[in-house]
Amino acid sequence: MSNSIGTLFRVTSFGESHGQCVGVVVDGCPAGVRLEAEIVQKDLDRRRAVDQVGATLRREPDLVRLLSGVHEGYTTGAPVCMVVDNTDTDSRAYQEFVRTPRPGHADYPARIKYGGYNDPRGGGRFSGRITAGFVMAGAVARAVLDRIGVEICAHTVAIGGVEAPPCDPDAIRLLNRQNSLSCCDESSSASMVAAIEDARARGDSIGGVVECVVLGLPAGIGEPVFSGVDSEIARAVFAIPAVKGVEFGAGFALCRARGSEANDPYSLSGDTVVTAKNDSGGVLGGLTNGMPLVLRAGFKPTPSVRMAQQTVDLETMTLAELTISGRHDACIVPRAVVVVEAVVASVICDLGLRSGLVPRVMR
Ligand SMILES: Cc1cc2nc3c(=O)[nH]c(=O)nc-3n(C[C@H](O)[C@H](O)[C@H](O)COP(=O)(O)O)c2cc1C
Repeated sequence: MSNSIGTLFRVTSFGESHGQCVGVVVDGCPAGVRLEAEIVQKDLDRRRAVDQVGATLRREPDLVRLLSGVHEGYTTGAPVCMVVDNTDTDSRAYQEFVRTPRPGHADYPARIKYGGYNDPRGGGRFSGRITAGFVMAGAVARAVLDRIGVEICAHTVAIGGVEAPPCDPDAIRLLNRQNSLSCCDESSSASMVAAIEDARARGDSIGGVVECVVLGLPAGIGEPVFSGVDSEIARAVFAIPAVKGVEFGAGFALCRARGSEANDPYSLSGDTVVTAKNDSGGVLGGLTNGMPLVLRAGFKPTPSVRMAQQTVDLETMTLAELTISGRHDACIVPRAVVVVEAVVASVICDLGLRSGLVPRVMR
């Protein structure tokens, strides 16, 4: 397993869904960054299931314990360790999945890889719950990036078959927290809620798409060729459970366009070089180009659905039918918005340190 990401701002994830806690260690955080538990808590609260349509009935307070790396409200430069305890666990349903693995979840490949020693309770390391650690690290990264005027915000652009109209970065900043779905368009949000409720009522689930923008980045950030800003972000976003695709700017649509349409013409805003449109999503050659960085993450429907599904009984090696009870999100997307922001923030912080944009001491 590889549970760490980042070169200078190094994030290490630990914990299992039904173990004692889930947490994260951030090593390499600059010293002198204002950091208090409340700052981290705000982001954690956005990830919680409470009040979100279609969310799991598991109720965790997710209160952060900030264990190290902060003194008198400022980071010291030492590793920042943060945990949230697992308090509302019910592991009864999960033993069954060791023998009859859930289609779409990691039960089967994890059993093969770890010889059956992996913790199956609540999905263990493969639970969406580990993203609480990603969010805590992201809150630290955000506190750093705040100081240099870099802002990261994400919103829900599609759920099930419902697509919100396009939204420019300034509108996303203003509107992405206006409802529990983090959707900037109220009428789309209402249709999305209806779609999630319909899926839940049928014992099914749906997926969707989160768009994330990074504002305030200068041109030239990224470490080509293998640590370009797009490759580093894609790697981190793909670590979020249930992510099935990542695209930048116009993404796959660009691949169907002609070069003359796809290219973003250069222009000037005062004496700053800008592009007239931003289909490249603010990245060229693995480097930021000074335009807003724009990416989208596609989430598949939650694998644990209540409808009967075909699986294999690994003891008898015969086909079997599985009906999943237990507490699951009918749609992951609303809870994943802050998770996408968090992993993008961690990557940008790392690349910022590597390029010298972020100082090692912030006064
Ligand atoms: C915030 C969040 C919550 C999730 N909740 C659930 C859940 O309740 N039930 C479930 O089966 N999967 C859930 N998942 C997805 C699984 O963890 C994921 O599909 C599984 O680990 C397999 O990995 P893969 O889909 O990336 O291949 C959640 C993911 C996230 C990001």
